[in-house]
Amino acid sequence: MQDLSDLLREARTWCVTGAAGFIGSHLTEALLRQGQSVVGLDNFATGYRHNLDDVRQRVGEEAWGRFTFHEGDVRDLDDCRRALAGCDVLLHQAALGSVPRSIADPLATHAANVDGFVNVLVAARRLTEDRMVRIRDQIPDGVVREIAAGA
Ligand SMILES: NC(=O)c1ccc[n+]([C@@H]2O[C@H](COP(=O)([O-])OP(=O)(O)OC[C@H]3O[C@@H](n4cnc5c(N)ncnc54)[C@H](O)[C@@H]3O)[C@@H](O)[C@H]2O)c1
Repeated sequence: MQDLSDLLREARTWCVTGAAGFIGSHLTEALLRQGQSVVGLDNFATGYRHNLDDVRQRVGEEAWGRFTFHEGDVRDLDDCRRALAGCDVLLHQAALGSVPRSIADPLATHAANVDGFVNVLVAARRLTEDRMVRIRDQIPDGVVREIAAGA
């Protein structure tokens, strides 16, 4: 995987899934502050519009003009493709957290966290693995690279 500071040297368009969530909104803010463009994808399952409103207020209108938002679902491949079209880098943060939730409703957690992740990878196939930055590390690198490369 490529170093983040290398990726930030040029102006790029970053897709942040889960942009209305805790980590996604902070990533969005940090990227906009660095002069980058961001495309957010979120279905507000556990995220909040006020997180995005707060980012807008903190970064100002010039930076906010570099943000585009798609209300959509990572369980829907077309939503993923729409959000990722034209993006250079993917930061995948959309997920349903909470172990108790996953025990109470394993199918919902699986659909968002597993099927959704694979949809995002398939939609991102034209990106190389060095343009993906993952926070969640349970899946071996080889699997991620093979799906993203279209293997
Ligand atoms: N917050 C932490 O301390 C922490 C620590 C380690 C790992 N993580 C992981 O980082 C990721 C993000 O965590 P967070 O704290 O920002 O959680 P969060 O719940 O605040 O954000 C997740 C975002 O994903 C969105 N989302 C959920 N399902 C979706 C779907 N089907 N389609 C589109 N969007 C969807 C939610 O609406 C939300 O905005 C998760 O995978 C989490 O497990 C978080």
